[in-house]
Amino acid sequence: MSDDSDHGSKKPGSGRPLRSQAWFGRQDKMGFYYRSFLKNSGQPQDRFDGRPVIGICNTWSELTPCNGHFRDLAEHVRYGVLDAGGYPLEFPVSSLGEVTMRPTAMLFRNLASMDVEEAIRAHPLDGVVLLMGCDKTTPALLMGAASADLPAIGVSGGPQLRGVYRGQIIGSGTNIISMSEQLRAGEITLAEFHEAEAAMNRSAGSCMTMGTASTMASMVEALGIGLPENAAIPAADARRNLLARMAGRRIVEMVKEDLKPSDILTREAFENAIRTLAAIGGSTNAVVHLLAIAGRVGVELTLADFDRLGRNIHCLVDLMPSGRFLMEDFYYAGGLPAVLRALGERGLLHKDALTVNGSSIWENVAAAQCWNAEVITPFDAPFKAEAGIAILTGNLAPNGAVIKPSAASPELMQHTGRAVVFESVEEMHHAVNDEALDIDADCIMVLKNCGPKGYPGMAEVGNMPLPAKLLRAGVRDMIRISDARMSGTAYGTVVLHVAPEATAGGPLALVQNGDLITLDVPARSLHLHVDEAELAARRAAWVAPEPHAARGYQRLYVNHVLQADRGADFDFLVGRSGSPVARDNH
Ligand code: FES
Repeated sequence: MSDDSDHGSKKPGSGRPLRSQAWFGRQDKMGFYYRSFLKNSGQPQDRFDGRPVIGICNTWSELTPCNGHFRDLAEHVRYGVLDAGGYPLEFPVSSLGEVTMRPTAMLFRNLASMDVEEAIRAHPLDGVVLLMGCDKTTPALLMGAASADLPAIGVSGGPQLRGVYRGQIIGSGTNIISMSEQLRAGEITLAEFHEAEAAMNRSAGSCMTMGTASTMASMVEALGIGLPENAAIPAADARRNLLARMAGRRIVEMVKEDLKPSDILTREAFENAIRTLAAIGGSTNAVVHLLAIAGRVGVELTLADFDRLGRNIHCLVDLMPSGRFLMEDFYYAGGLPAVLRALGERGLLHKDALTVNGSSIWENVAAAQCWNAEVITPFDAPFKAEAGIAILTGNLAPNGAVIKPSAASPELMQHTGRAVVFESVEEMHHAVNDEALDIDADCIMVLKNCGPKGYPGMAEVGNMPLPAKLLRAGVRDMIRISDARMSGTAYGTVVLHVAPEATAGGPLALVQNGDLITLDVPARSLHLHVDEAELAARRAAWVAPEPHAARGYQRLYVNHVLQADRGADFDFLVGRSGSPVARDNH
């Protein structure tokens, strides 16, 4: 049977030659070669006639259960690409499962971004749909696609349905933390603990609290690099598949319009994302990821931007870990479009920012409605007032540190306490269960050597477990300071991302047991009460810890990772390099 239906070699609307035609448009030995091998999946000749070739970049993996439904989701994207006359080609990239990867999935975010960037650049693609869900898969794909700068559209996998345990709504991560502390305090049995495990993760999708996955899915929508409603449609809702299909259709048009990430990811888009981050009470992890993504498109974003832009924004959504509800409730209440509309109505949105559907962000959300004011509270009666991520500086964090006031205890926001210092996460884990540990509820727990270079990979260990004896005494929060990150599903008065980190010789390395530290969030200050002469003496005696790895990727990582205030990207990846067609190999 002939597959030559001769649709000719017409070019799409812009008249610009498609990148893929450098492979498929050749009528020579190499053209034969490129087309012939792809025909082994039954492709007709007209697949190669100059129609947009769309990559479906898939982070499916059984090792990333939150992305476990992505082969199905990819099929819906494929239908959409075919609907619009494109040629879809699905390809796998590194998947980063937050739950099981050690030492931390963050160690591999930059590696995965390189995989994405080079896969896009190396292949005959004109545009790409990015399937992402579990925490680090979203920034990794956005970073890689931004560097490659071919037309790209993000599709998040969607959150899980609510967890329900014995009639009680339970949220990813948030209730893992609270229930594990209940187990340690002897308040629940091991059998109850196991039963809750199954009740929490009862459907496909990512964590359904406003953790890092949901925050980053919201950032995709707020940045305009995903379609409206991308943030909150549950994975199990048919409308998630519809969104994937519409993304497949739209990317074909984007190729024709030559609408690239660099057109979408502008400074205005990042400012919209930062304000949205505050309005949703989003994860602190978004700070490092947005900084890194901005670096890939040459937008100069700083920690100060987060404090300045987020300072007067109220947290509108009453979602765990800060509040009561879950992403499913958020979607039914109107989702992110309702939040964006509330921001826009108060002049807190760059309304003209362009989005992937070709409309401005305001055009997308101007008619959005809130259907449940308990879940998405009005701006005039917000869930939490002025709850944007705060950036602290001081002699303990010269280049900045991060705290999420909406997840912290108000009575600890201005506090001076005695430092109880842990040199490593292993030392901390041992010490918090030691009944002899010299600590009380007014102390400040300080953890070192868990930053980008120190762990390596900047693990989510900043929300240290409280000492067992204090838990039993009813203490539920204390100030904790580290160069680590924390899970977006975590909560507490936790100062994170201290920069420079201890392993890089930052002042955090010099803190000793008994030093006094003042946290003053209203003043945005983090101060170590040790005089400069003493600090100089400690600095002279300081010896950098031995690196954890002497070879391979971890060596590359430690040698090139930037500090948290620069997004923890690699120094050699900052900036965009586009997708020129590489030399062929024949
Ligand atoms: Fe994958 Fe939370 S562990 S999204």
